[in-house]
Amino acid sequence: MEHDRLTELGRRHLWGHFSVLKNDVDGMHIIERGDGCYVWDDQGNRYLDGLAGLFVSQLGHGRPELARAAGNQAATLGYFPIWTYAHPAAVELAAKLASLAPGDLNRVFFTTGGSEAVESAWKLARQYFKQVGQPDRVKAISRNLAYHGTSMGALSITGLESIKTVFEPLVPGAVKVPETNHYRCPTCQDEPHCSLHAAEAIEEAIVREGPETVAAVFLEPVQNAGGCFVPPPGYFDRVREICDRHGVLLVSDEVICAFGRIGRMFGCERYGYQPDIITSAKGLTSGYAPLGAMIVSDRIAEPFVGTGESFIHGFTFAGHPVSCAVALANLKIFEDEDIVGHVQANEDAFRAALDDLSDLPIVGDIRGTGYFYAIELVRDRDTRSSFSDEERESLLRGFLSNRFLELGLICRADDRGEPVIQLSPPLIAEQAEFDFINQALRSALTEATARMR
Ligand SMILES: Cc1ncc(COP(=O)(O)O)c(C=O)c1O
Repeated sequence: MEHDRLTELGRRHLWGHFSVLKNDVDGMHIIERGDGCYVWDDQGNRYLDGLAGLFVSQLGHGRPELARAAGNQAATLGYFPIWTYAHPAAVELAAKLASLAPGDLNRVFFTTGGSEAVESAWKLARQYFKQVGQPDRVKAISRNLAYHGTSMGALSITGLESIKTVFEPLVPGAVKVPETNHYRCPTCQDEPHCSLHAAEAIEEAIVREGPETVAAVFLEPVQNAGGCFVPPPGYFDRVREICDRHGVLLVSDEVICAFGRIGRMFGCERYGYQPDIITSAKGLTSGYAPLGAMIVSDRIAEPFVGTGESFIHGFTFAGHPVSCAVALANLKIFEDEDIVGHVQANEDAFRAALDDLSDLPIVGDIRGTGYFYAIELVRDRDTRSSFSDEERESLLRGFLSNRFLELGLICRADDRGEPVIQLSPPLIAEQAEFDFINQALRSALTEATARMR
């Protein structure tokens, strides 16, 4: 049978990312095709793609326009580098992104994905400061738990110890500050308003390290790892002020939050701050081809314009013509179908479908915005007490991950911080999908509650 053949070949040859290599074929899910918000495995089972692949498939699956854009571009110019050359799709896309990005973010450096965009931003910050006569500004500040990618620079900026230690020593100069976790905040969890201590911690870190040594602060608009930590009101205003006072660049890592995910084209627009650099990837092509983009302010690009100095950095496949053509077609559909408006019009209904679960005793906190949410699971809602390591293992990997799939829902059960369920459906999702998510979560979490008793 074809399924047996593929699983056996996969078991022997495919090295899944962040995946355990098993010596049996149990649990290998082969996803074969997709349409809209749904995908099908090779045995004909249908799933609601509640994670948009990996926070990627903004327009959903099976869009013929994007397939055609890829095919047409491949037939016209399948590959050419943007090292010293240009090609029409890269030029058009760079101009399009510059027109969409806020303020003076007008210069676009393409990559093939998110880690490369983050890596590029740190390297650009370092080279920029060398060129403007501040050569000691090399450090990067970022938040605990935050995921910024896996290449050595991006991994150093990442705040998840569990995926870092085995690769040490990492790149020096990566400093960590607290995440914005109001639900478990030691200072203001019981207050209606946040004390902004997490922003103050950034200033303390800059001063402690020596402002003349700090190049950039890397923050996601809404922090994914740990479970969709939204910034408290005033957080980004304060961070912008701190960065300006100390001459530090603010990098908005929007690999997840850009392209409609949180109800704006760029996540920084939702919270009203102007970064010096945006790093993006994922939703830029809705996943129909790999592409990342670092979008840079004119001020940071200036020392490279007309000076004969190049940014000494690049990737063979960055700005690939097929990926750029797909991104242009993707952004055209965003406009034609008002995808961002669709998220704005439906985000309250999505939130309501999740808030409806708050009667379940295992549901501690429901947080997020736009089409990007996490549900934190707790052992006791009143005390907010969490599960032991063994309980988490049995709850998340021993039960929920599989149970969601049995119920036809793909989402993420994660415990890189506290245990959370993450939802990030395609941006075309509407009430029928929200209802499905609600029902699948209600069934699985009700069963989970009974098991944990
Ligand atoms: C905020 C953020 N930055 C960077 C990355 C790394 O992107 P990629 O996996 O495309 O290298 C991710 C991936 O999820 C991310 O969420």
